[in-house]
Amino acid sequence: MGDPGGSWLAGLPARAAGSMSTPLREYVEHGSGASVTAGEATQAWGRLRLHPHVLRDVTDVDPSVALLGRTSRAPFGVAPTSLQKAVHPDGEVATARATAAAGAVMVVSSNAGSTFADIAATGVTWWLQVYLPSDRTLAGPLLDRAVEAGAAAVVLTVDTPVVATWHPTQALIWDVADPAWTRVNFGPGHDDQPGSEKALDLGPHDIDWLRDRTGLPVVVKGVLRGDDARRCVQAGAAAVWVSTHGGRQLDRSVSTADALPDVRAAVGEEAEVYVDGGVRSGLDVLTALAAGADAVFVGRPVLHALVDGEAGVARWHAALLDETVEAMRLAGCRTPADTRELLPDTRQERP
Ligand code: FNR
Repeated sequence: MGDPGGSWLAGLPARAAGSMSTPLREYVEHGSGASVTAGEATQAWGRLRLHPHVLRDVTDVDPSVALLGRTSRAPFGVAPTSLQKAVHPDGEVATARATAAAGAVMVVSSNAGSTFADIAATGVTWWLQVYLPSDRTLAGPLLDRAVEAGAAAVVLTVDTPVVATWHPTQALIWDVADPAWTRVNFGPGHDDQPGSEKALDLGPHDIDWLRDRTGLPVVVKGVLRGDDARRCVQAGAAAVWVSTHGGRQLDRSVSTADALPDVRAAVGEEAEVYVDGGVRSGLDVLTALAAGADAVFVGRPVLHALVDGEAGVARWHAALLDETVEAMRLAGCRTPADTRELLPDTRQERP
């Protein structure tokens, strides 16, 4: 199958770096604070140890998963990231075309530089990511546009009451960014209105409100604790997404690899559980599934691949799926559900 070894995926960041301006590269790669959480993310998956099955027929491996009632051909999808048009002129539309062809889910940042209509026209299954403003009613037009364009879910990012401070040089991207690369799905003048700043008072009631307002399943992104995960589920969340925002919000946050088992244990099978952060290889995908995730999402590597437009993102999807299937075979797993037995300490019973 496909790409030789993991070398193409492993070499992605270095190859992309050569095609990105310094401010863009720093914007993509940065973590907040001293980048402790950003730096530990990938290593944390590598610390977990698997107990593989043997003597199992792995001729036919099916890596697909059902997410919020729709089939995704891969157990991984595209996390929301902003400024995709700074990476490639086709921006989110290139990512969407490749993700549609791969039969996976794309989460679209509310800061996207492509319209919902253009993204939806690719046929991709897409979910809208939102931050809620202090005045919730100001989110209405954005939500309406997304529903009208066929978003299949709303992802509420809850780890960003304020945007964490970056190293000063990382802010340089905003000096060179074209305003047309971001937030094109908001109405004109949206950000000048009082109450448009990020809400400091988010609560479980916002989950319920978003579900009522859109009629869509709500996914809560940025949960790192079992008790918070339970509050989300009790408030009506369809899924909880374990994330540190790529180590870009509270530095020194626990790695998602270490937080995931507690969240899965707290949620049980009442809601879906997703994870992102530092997933770079098929072995990382397998490990995340084993630790309790129903699906895995990936941020920076998609941006690295997007340097080559749609073709780059298509190759990323194919390479990661190849590696995932190889890892599943080596572990004696025919389906993502089988992987739950690979980490006995965190094993969860499937109904
Ligand atoms: C992000 N992330 C993010 N999250 C979100 O909810 N809304 C957003 O607009 C963005 N924008 C964004 C831009 C860039 C450049 C990066 C790198 C990340 C966080 C993203 O969805 C995801 O949580 C992390 O990127 C996952 O970690 P990895 O895969 O990048 O290690």
